[in-house]
Amino acid sequence: MNPEALEWLFPTPIAVYDLTECVTDEIDNALQKISYTTNSLVEGIRGTQDPSKIPQLKKLYEKFQECIDSYSKEIGIKRSYISESWMNILSVNGSVGVHRHYDSVISGAYYPYVDDGSAPIAFISSTEGFRMIDIQYCTDDNKLYTANVHTIVSKTGKLVLFPSWLQHYVPTNKTEMRITLSFNTKF
Ligand SMILES: [Fe+2]
Repeated sequence: MNPEALEWLFPTPIAVYDLTECVTDEIDNALQKISYTTNSLVEGIRGTQDPSKIPQLKKLYEKFQECIDSYSKEIGIKRSYISESWMNILSVNGSVGVHRHYDSVISGAYYPYVDDGSAPIAFISSTEGFRMIDIQYCTDDNKLYTANVHTIVSKTGKLVLFPSWLQHYVPTNKTEMRITLSFNTKF
């Protein structure tokens, strides 16, 4: 017998935007001029400069803000603004450990360039720490209700927005080049 209703309580909204229109040589060239350093969270390299401050990337960050506004409206929270941004580059065997973005409302990961088949971004369910014995007996018939991890494929020109409190990571990358621009927002 089917239930009269099946409620989705406390959903975690993750939005994906197609910004392939923003994939341009001008942006590529500007990103190539950024210098790099190592970072304790990243098995890869991190840009030393906040890309949101680079004049050639102004239009791109305006587009991100448009998407943040659309997402905020959709989920019913006040407007927030990009407060900081950074660039990570992963190559073969690169990865990013599990983390959250503190002191931020909405976080974003945009891929200005990734090789086909690059590692996805992986989100960890906020219910993970609360689930009990049921987790050992999942039938896998409906992963929407049982999964602890959900991955979103990385693709050139794709923007992923998510609540900053949501734990996430990047599993081991197998390609030569996976570039991400990440950012946080504040009210
Ligand atoms: Fe992150």
